[in-house]
Amino acid sequence: MTTIETQANLPALSAHERKEIGRLLQLTLVELIALSLIGKQLHWNIVGPGFRELHLHLDELVDEWRELSDVVAERAVAIGVPPDGRAPTVAEQSELDPVDADAVQIPAAVRELVRRVAEVDERVRDRWVRLGEIDLTSQDVLIEVTRALEKQLWMIRSQL
Ligand SMILES: [Fe+2]
Repeated sequence: MTTIETQANLPALSAHERKEIGRLLQLTLVELIALSLIGKQLHWNIVGPGFRELHLHLDELVDEWRELSDVVAERAVAIGVPPDGRAPTVAEQSELDPVDADAVQIPAAVRELVRRVAEVDERVRDRWVRLGEIDLTSQDVLIEVTRALEKQLWMIRSQL
């Protein structure tokens, strides 16, 4: 009975659509969490000229990735799919390579960061193209993600 009442409050999507939308949101969620972890790792480990500027910029980026991950996760809940942001799930599902654990010179750190943000942006674009056939409201959420990532790419690249 509870299940039926809960389902009645969900947007009108078929089980198949719900599953596919949930999958695309979940894959985006884990990549945004992975970016936020990479951002902090670099925030702590960059060295060289321009340290303070990039150190502070990385914290702004981490905040933005965390905000976006929240928007994506809450969209999944809104369509009835529980998001999974647990550390082992992020490690398993995210396609992003981890950065090295060592200190890293700033130009190398910027290149590492740009490559990963660009990869995520490309994959999220593919996902929102797919969502355009299923659910425009979820597509809008992922478009917001790519708009933010592409602005970040411009700002990070400008430091090179
Ligand atoms: Fe800090």
